[in-house]
Amino acid sequence: SFASILALLAAYLFGSIPTAVWLGQSFYGVDVREFGSGNAGATNTFRVLGPKAGVAVMVIDITKGWTATNLAYFIGVSVTGPESSILFINYQLILGVIAVLGHLFPLFAGFRGGKGVATLFGMVLAIHFGAAMICVGVFILVLLTTRYVSLSSISAGFAFPFSLSFVFHTSVKSILLYGICICTLILITHQKNIERLLKGRESKVNLFRKK
Ligand code: G3P
Repeated sequence: SFASILALLAAYLFGSIPTAVWLGQSFYGVDVREFGSGNAGATNTFRVLGPKAGVAVMVIDITKGWTATNLAYFIGVSVTGPESSILFINYQLILGVIAVLGHLFPLFAGFRGGKGVATLFGMVLAIHFGAAMICVGVFILVLLTTRYVSLSSISAGFAFPFSLSFVFHTSVKSILLYGICICTLILITHQKNIERLLKGRESKVNLFRKK
């Protein structure tokens, strides 16, 4: 339908907002893609510009994914009964993934964006709060034990399909399918991080100590 095409387009445009790049350029005169890991995301903004900027980028990028996913309410589901909620989750997943693709390949920043973790989290948050909290739990646990943000992101990404099936007490086939899709996306965007992790060269974050 016309509404769904509009929603998909809007999801891509929301995802395309290059928060890290714009915030860095406007408030610090810096393109974060030229420093640190070269990634246009919250982690690298934290690394290059400090906690205030990092948290701001994280919050805005989560909001992007959350907003795009909630566009599902505009599409409206044509069936009723138990199938309707499954169809609705499918819309949410599609819109969320499109927003993530927008974040990876942003229209407004030369198609060089981030790794999609915060945007993905926004999607999970919009779909199910409990599932999102499970992913946060996994993220924090891995971060506290290893201090690698990338490894925490990868673990939380893999926790996503399990947490969703867990909270919905069902293994909706599409959740599995999107789960595989999302895990693959995360592995692809974190390729360099994985190489560094394997070589023991990935940067760790200082959680409690000031530099
Ligand atoms: O969310 C991205 C994070 O997992 C890794 O970022 O900058 O360390 O490559 P970065």
